[in-house]
Amino acid sequence: MQSEEIRRRFLTFFEKRGHKVIPSASLVPENDPSVLFTTAGMQQFKAYYVGKANAKKDFNALNLTSSQKCVRTSDIEEVGDESHLTFFEMLGNFSFGDYWKEEAIRYAYELITKDFGLKIDYVSVFSGEGNVPEDIESAKIWKSINQDLIIKKFGRKDNFWGPTGAEGPCGPTTEIYVNGIEIWNIVFNEYYQSEDETLAPLKVKGVDTGMGLERLVKVIQKAQTVFDTDFFIQIMQIANSRIIADHIRTSVFIISDGVTPSNTGRGYILRRLLRHAYIHANKFGGDLIILNDVIHAVIKHPSYKELYEFKSPEIFKIVQEEIDKFKIALENGLKQLKKGVDPFVVSTSFGLPLEIIEELVDVDKIKFQKQMEEHRQNSSVAGEQKFKK
Ligand code: SER
Repeated sequence: MQSEEIRRRFLTFFEKRGHKVIPSASLVPENDPSVLFTTAGMQQFKAYYVGKANAKKDFNALNLTSSQKCVRTSDIEEVGDESHLTFFEMLGNFSFGDYWKEEAIRYAYELITKDFGLKIDYVSVFSGEGNVPEDIESAKIWKSINQDLIIKKFGRKDNFWGPTGAEGPCGPTTEIYVNGIEIWNIVFNEYYQSEDETLAPLKVKGVDTGMGLERLVKVIQKAQTVFDTDFFIQIMQIANSRIIADHIRTSVFIISDGVTPSNTGRGYILRRLLRHAYIHANKFGGDLIILNDVIHAVIKHPSYKELYEFKSPEIFKIVQEEIDKFKIALENGLKQLKKGVDPFVVSTSFGLPLEIIEELVDVDKIKFQKQMEEHRQNSSVAGEQKFKK
């Protein structure tokens, strides 16, 4: 089954069960300044969970479903293993006070085991921690559906989700594991976490689920890694490196949503992704041409062709300009490194991130971090002084 069919089946399953299909929001969150990128399907719906907006009024429905574009860079070190990506689509179903644990769990079980024909290794539920009690109800529901299911119990680190950003809805989760990986996270939003990390009960309880499409495709297609699914087959024929494949794919979507490379925030993440991809392309004896071919392959995937082909001239231009700039910085930085100039000095003068310098020369990391810390303190002291004047 191809990825497009898998996405379609998910959305149709929930549409048939009273959910309205909502398009993906931008990767640049509109109403959440505390996060750089959209990292979850529920992000565009935060206001509905907390009663600041009314889903019935805005969508004429209390239950929604979507496939949301997401960027997460917190797991960037893991990229290249079997299941981590910096860009992915997250399939989700959402309820704002309509249904609760029973339906959410039954829907998930039916879709995974019947429609997709997968075997669940085990599920997990919240074991209780701090002020939040154990989720006995979810465990009971799982048992009533299939008494042979293995149910594991974990604490806050594993089975409690949210909020995105500094504050927001959050709650205990129940998660489904297939072929050794977590594929579906079902969140029962029943608390509001404030900036000081205290929890208050939400007036209306909500459901928020998230299933990484690429991971789901991996298990359905019995692919060894996400890079062996139909999302990546064309890309990998060109990229040779999973890092290039991942980083360029992510860059395409970030640029399409209006971000350009810079030294701060989103722009800096984009800059790092592109620079890393370029360094890897160079390692494999390639150049900008490889990156351009990968961009082509990303946009040619049937899921994205219509959406992104028209944006491709702009994408190629931005990538070209960034790599041209980087080549100059890299050349100058390399010369300095060869001359024995301190890696930290090279990093700050030429804008080369540590991880890139590390790929070129041996770096005393402890010394580098100490220098960085001092540099930060000095610049913040200078900043404060300026401010006081
Ligand atoms: N918000 C949860 C997650 O991102 C479920 O959608 O995992």
